[in-house]
Amino acid sequence: MIITIDGPAGTGKSTVARALAERLGFEFLDTGALYRAIAWYCLENNVSHDDATRIVELTSTVHIRWEDARLWVNEEEVTEKIRSEEVTLGASRVAVISEVRDALNDVQRKIAEAQNIVTEGRDQGTVVFPHAQCKFYLNASAEERARRRFLELTNNGELAEYETILEQIRERDERDATREIAPLKPAPDAILIDSTNLKPERVLDKLEQTARK
Ligand code: C5P
Repeated sequence: MIITIDGPAGTGKSTVARALAERLGFEFLDTGALYRAIAWYCLENNVSHDDATRIVELTSTVHIRWEDARLWVNEEEVTEKIRSEEVTLGASRVAVISEVRDALNDVQRKIAEAQNIVTEGRDQGTVVFPHAQCKFYLNASAEERARRRFLELTNNGELAEYETILEQIRERDERDATREIAPLKPAPDAILIDSTNLKPERVLDKLEQTARK
């Protein structure tokens, strides 16, 4: 069984998808992490996130492994390393390249062949798993998503500026929604959930109830 959760950055998709997978005893797949892996690997190899030719070359030789919510690039574990701001913005740049998307779609489908999964991203219900049995689209206002990210960073003792975060979220939303291939949008058969005024536990309960039907 495949459950897809799509939506823009900062809606709490990842947290909810991970918790839902745990409740159902499914594997959890964070597909954004795979795009981040390519962006991180570009930085490691001094390849600009705008250099499509070199990025496609790197993508064709790199080995990406996702297991138990941890990520390896050519045997180096990068689970935490891919969370920097530089990698975050780079991921949305490499994600506009069709060869990169094709390669990562293959990785995602292979993972889903082997087990039941809850998979989250931008195109899971629309492109990668159009036949998924259960699809969700999670949204929240850009201001609320920026507020959550701001709190997360400051709670970790990091320096953060709300306006800058909001600007970055809008920039990523714009790029994800307007790109030519696999633009961010809900699948026609996805259940839409707005989490602006909902606590993650409430979202999780809603998803679980629907998934178990
Ligand atoms: O979800 P996360 O913020 O980790 O995703 C990083 C970037 O990867 C997104 O901004 C988006 O551009 C890209 N992405 C994508 N398709 C997916 C998952 C992520 O294009 N299925």
